Amino acid sequence: MKKALIFILTVSGFIWVVSSCGSAKEDQTSASAAPSKDNLVKRGNYLVTSMGCNDCHSPKKMGPHGPFVDTARALSGFQSDAPVPTASAEDVAKHQIVFSGDLTGFVGPWGTSFAANITSDGTGIGNWSLDQFKNAIRNGKYMGLKEERMLMPPMPWEAYRNLSDADLEAIFAYLKSTKPVKNVVPSYRPPGK
Ligand code: HEC
Repeated sequence: MKKALIFILTVSGFIWVVSSCGSAKEDQTSASAAPSKDNLVKRGNYLVTSMGCNDCHSPKKMGPHGPFVDTARALSGFQSDAPVPTASAEDVAKHQIVFSGDLTGFVGPWGTSFAANITSDGTGIGNWSLDQFKNAIRNGKYMGLKEERMLMPPMPWEAYRNLSDADLEAIFAYLKSTKPVKNVVPSYRPPGK
């Protein structure tokens, strides 16, 4: 009788240990499947700063050690009141490319392109859906819209197109969390325009 009782206690203890391990595991899985908003934004910030988005999308100031990001206007693209970079057809034919001084405007054989405002403002990506963002990065579509033109150089969307859904979601969550900066970037100009 005593032996049977010990056996039952041992078995139920074992079951308890096994089942609590199971639930701990489940908790971990659900945590990694749906990261908190905070973690998503943090990861997005990490990706955006490591993948060079600021290099082209942020206006810069000049310092004794070269250009640095103007943090008050970070990610707001080519400034609407900045002089537009130009290059003659002859220069372009000689394969010369012109960059604006703060590296946000570009002239080359593709025409003149301006780094977009990708802050959370309405003049940036503030009103975009996640699907639009994915379509811009994966298929190189302006505004992420199917019927729109292709994005021009030097936006390296082909280098980013294989990012996982989770990474693109994190980048988008971060961009949506940025300080809104109002700035209407000039429209792309085809060659010779
Ligand atoms: C080497 C320069 C460069 C880098 C680096 C770069 N971009 Fe761009 N990006 C551009 C330019 C220029 C455009 C505008 C292209 C056009 O209008 O055709 C653009 C356009 C975009 C657009 C489309 C905006 C619109 O209105 O359609 C998005 C979204 C975007 N970039 C996000 C990013 C993100 C996120 C990163 C970093 C992961 C990044 N870019 C890195 C230069 C760059």
